[in-house]
Amino acid sequence: RIPNSTILVIFGASGDLTKRKLLPSLFHLRQSGLLPKQFAIVGVARRPLGNEFAEDMKAGILEFGGVDASDPKIDEFVQHVSYYALSFDDAAGYAGLKDELDKIAKEKGIGNDRLFYLATAPEYFAPIIENLGAQGMNQTENGRVGVVIEKPFGHDLESARELNHQVNAVFSESQVFRIDHYLGKETVQNILVFRFANGIFEPIWNRNFIDHVQITAAESIGIEGRGPFYEKAGALRDVLQNHVMELLSFVGMEPPSSFDADAVRREKVKLWQSIPNIPILNAVRGQYGPGIVDGKRVLGYREEDRVSPESGTETYAAVHLQIENWRWAGVPFYLRAGKRLKKRATEITIQFKQPPLLIFNRMQAAGPCTEIQPNLLSIRIQPDEGIALRFGAKVPSAPGMAVCPVNMDFDYAQAFGKSTATGYERLLMDAMMGDQTLFSHRDGVEINWSLYTPILQAWAAKDPEVFPNYFAGSWGPDCADRLLERGGHAWRNKLGKPE
Ligand code: BG6
Repeated sequence: RIPNSTILVIFGASGDLTKRKLLPSLFHLRQSGLLPKQFAIVGVARRPLGNEFAEDMKAGILEFGGVDASDPKIDEFVQHVSYYALSFDDAAGYAGLKDELDKIAKEKGIGNDRLFYLATAPEYFAPIIENLGAQGMNQTENGRVGVVIEKPFGHDLESARELNHQVNAVFSESQVFRIDHYLGKETVQNILVFRFANGIFEPIWNRNFIDHVQITAAESIGIEGRGPFYEKAGALRDVLQNHVMELLSFVGMEPPSSFDADAVRREKVKLWQSIPNIPILNAVRGQYGPGIVDGKRVLGYREEDRVSPESGTETYAAVHLQIENWRWAGVPFYLRAGKRLKKRATEITIQFKQPPLLIFNRMQAAGPCTEIQPNLLSIRIQPDEGIALRFGAKVPSAPGMAVCPVNMDFDYAQAFGKSTATGYERLLMDAMMGDQTLFSHRDGVEINWSLYTPILQAWAAKDPEVFPNYFAGSWGPDCADRLLERGGHAWRNKLGKPE
């Protein structure tokens, strides 16, 4: 249920996320009538900003929200936006923030629901939470108080545990919304609908029919000026350990008993718990050198602004993991994430087993249909959102029984129209409603870190192989190809819509 009124407080309001994603998403919610009737958005950051803040947010909504400047709702919307200057570690200053929120609530007739959104650098998460607690802002009388925490949630297992401890000392787990924006994507949520709202896929969704699974999060962009952040993060921490693992959980989990937070998150945790330690040989890393992406010459990672010329940070990471349960035993899962790859494509590919006997094998047509190809199900998370199923079809008029792969393709935009949603709409709405289904539970975050921390430690202890080891604009390092060759597989690099 959408609350009648709420105040959303965004810490780190002068950052990119607020302008590019959060405010445009909140405006989209307003347009669809999905914001509480009485609401206020209070941006908090260190810099002294006044009305400029609301003006800047308006510019963000127009630029990033796909919104027409003539939309009369924009001016009405920004009247609900205000700004409060505060240093996040200034404990005494939080009393002033509390007074400010009370004042806004009184003026606008807003009740006691509050949502704090932490969109700051991660080192401020703990001090903000502690200071909110010290002022008693972690709860209100007859109201719901929640805290949304952006990624990265910790840097390794130990720091994630410590942060969980600090968060739960102030907020109970039911108040905590650890965000992974991939779960806000329609195509990601649709994995569950595809599996659990259709009768025909689940019976074959297991080791008896599936040969292996590949999950790719390929980006053609580089680090976009975020050198200092990325130097400390790297591809494994930045994308593989969270976004890609969320995709894996939706592909691999057992059907939950209902679509509510406890049931869904319990199944995800069970799935991640079934993954045995990943041997270090099953994890590979890469770093891009200069190259050509989308027809343009681009710098290598080590030449990027504020990156060490000897940097050992990986911009590509891939792993081969197993899931030890009755559904998946023996099925390899290959996961990869990288920057400056040939194209942007986040995609899940399920390769099915071949029929037990290939009776048409020796009657192939020449040309592209030289071999019978296994069935492939490709779930295109982005771009060109859709799902394709590849199967063999008889080539008409060819001699014998020539078989060629063809595709059945579902295209999101064609079926439902193009969307301007950022993915944050759903997550913001759910957090305001107190629905945690699409947010990470403490246990899930810690299990994921426990899987990847040994790899990160092993990598940190040993100099990387020769870096850079892939060209910008390629499909990543050779070692990633060898990772699959060992299992008799190959990465599927023809990602995107079937031709
Ligand atoms: C972020 C990472 O979490 O996800 C970025 O920090 C990455 O490095 C981004 O580019 C990818 O998100 P999307 O929605 O563009 O796939």
